[in-house]
Amino acid sequence: MDKYNIIKVPDPVLKQVAKAVTAVDDSIRAQFDKMLYTMYEAPGIGLAANQVAMLNRVIVMDIAQREEEGTKKPIFMANPEIIWRSEEPSVWEEGCLSIPGQYAEVERPLQVRVKYLDYNGKEQEDMFEGLASHCVQHEIDHLDGILFIDHISALKRNMIIKRMKKLQKESEAL
Ligand code: NI
Repeated sequence: MDKYNIIKVPDPVLKQVAKAVTAVDDSIRAQFDKMLYTMYEAPGIGLAANQVAMLNRVIVMDIAQREEEGTKKPIFMANPEIIWRSEEPSVWEEGCLSIPGQYAEVERPLQVRVKYLDYNGKEQEDMFEGLASHCVQHEIDHLDGILFIDHISALKRNMIIKRMKKLQKESEAL
């Protein structure tokens, strides 16, 4: 299967807001499949359309492998929307395929309830907690042009951006 190219910080597409999907049709299902394959190959646990330069509200996730090696439980979402957030916060060290090799602790609501259209275009609602909750919130953020580094101090964020720019220059010089 063909893979998408994953774009990296500071690509401006990562700061753009993705548009709602009108319907989950075969072209969206093809995008789901190709994004999931790209994510598994990276490897990563979540991927949003912005990261493959597609500006529609589509995300894929699979955290099953983190819990039990060799298992796959892919989740496909179009137009995901957080309809409830817990008051209780959670801190998790996050990374991102668009900011490779950089990690930071991010605070988010511990639990969220998300409404979305599934692979068949059916409306679903699910609760997420812990890593799955961080992951779904991180991916929905991408659709709004928000990165995990936007949740940390400006000092840490600027350090990461500087490092990313330096790495980019180095790879261009090769
Ligand atoms: Ni990310």
